Amino acid sequence: MKRYLVTGGAGFIGSNYIRYMLKKHRDVEIINLDKLTYAGNPDNLKDIQTDSRYKFIKGDICDEVLVNKIMTEIDFVVNFAAESHVDRSIGAPDDFIRTDVFGTFVLLEAARTNKIEKFIQISTDEVYGSIDKGSFTENDPLMPSSPYSASKTGADRLAFSYFVTYDLPVIITRCSNNFGPFHYPEKLIPLFVTNAIENKNLPIYGDGKNVRDWIYVEDHCDGVDFVCQNGRLGEVYNIGGGNERTNLEITDRILKKLEKPQSLMTFVKDRLGHDRRYSVDCSKIADLGWKPKDNFEEALDKTISWFMENNWWWKKLKNGEYMEYYKQQYKEVV
Ligand code: NAD
Ligand code: TYD
Repeated sequence: MKRYLVTGGAGFIGSNYIRYMLKKHRDVEIINLDKLTYAGNPDNLKDIQTDSRYKFIKGDICDEVLVNKIMTEIDFVVNFAAESHVDRSIGAPDDFIRTDVFGTFVLLEAARTNKIEKFIQISTDEVYGSIDKGSFTENDPLMPSSPYSASKTGADRLAFSYFVTYDLPVIITRCSNNFGPFHYPEKLIPLFVTNAIENKNLPIYGDGKNVRDWIYVEDHCDGVDFVCQNGRLGEVYNIGGGNERTNLEITDRILKKLEKPQSLMTFVKDRLGHDRRYSVDCSKIADLGWKPKDNFEEALDKTISWFMENNWWWKKLKNGEYMEYYKQQYKEVV
């Protein structure tokens, strides 16, 4: 049996990853350590709660005693736990620094003491910052521009330093924007899909021409598993979908699929420090033998259908603490 510690496994990508791993491999056992912040949701893993190979521990990656105890029971660490929403990091960066930087430090330190087999740090393409033309390779300088991406950069380089200094078997992945089931309805795609279903406005920041590269979450999970098995220690791997779209293009597709009017589009004040375009060069992982499988339009349609069929999942999120937060947002119409 291969024993994994997955942190942040009750969030969007972590829960998809755990489901993916349990389905794909018979010989894995997974401990999910998650603090259950607003973004962590036990509903995301309802269907696998009874799998004997899965165990949930509610806890904080910053808790050294707890993390050290868990680390004696596992071989692999996949660190997804983070505060992950750029807008929230603009309003209140504190938790981003604490979890994304200090939490990663606690995990790395415990992994070093307990001599684990591999440590996968889930970083992001946002660490490179914005690029007008071309794509970032893994060796390009990191120029993060939001408190979120800056804290992820801290974690990314801290993980690398543990490889260089202590020979900790670290691999780092930098993926582009994910979408798919269980995506918290504050991010672009799930917010716009659920708002459109409810005939609410879709708040587009600035001119809507910012570009993101989109990847279906299952492809990202597959890429992380591939890198864990085939990646070289101490290396960074970009993971991208090869689907660069403006926010206006995404919005248009959502409205068409749901047969909703263009008049739901509302232009609002731009996000502070809004990165114009993200783009990663994925030839390094491609040379190793991996590429994403999903077609973007089909995967987006599949995702929209999932939200239409699972309003039990998102309706309560939009009614609770989420709305309190949302009311304080600066989504001021321009
Ligand atoms: P998410 O916000 O949906 O989930 C984060 C999870 O971490 C939640 O379950 C939350 O409860 C948990 N968590 C937060 N603080 C914690 C703490 N101190 N201790 C333990 N658990 C804690 O995020 P996501 O979108 O699933 O992203 C997961 C990871 O992937 C993050 O590291 C993010 O930076 C990275 N990433 C995300 C994307 C994307 O498009 N969403 C792209 C590239 C990389
Ligand atoms: P988001 O999903 O927050 O991901 P990230 O900022 O980490 O890439 O946003 C994706 C893009 O959509 C980004 O350019 C900001 C934009 N956006 C809006 O225009 N309106 C919104 O309400 C949100 C949440 C995002």
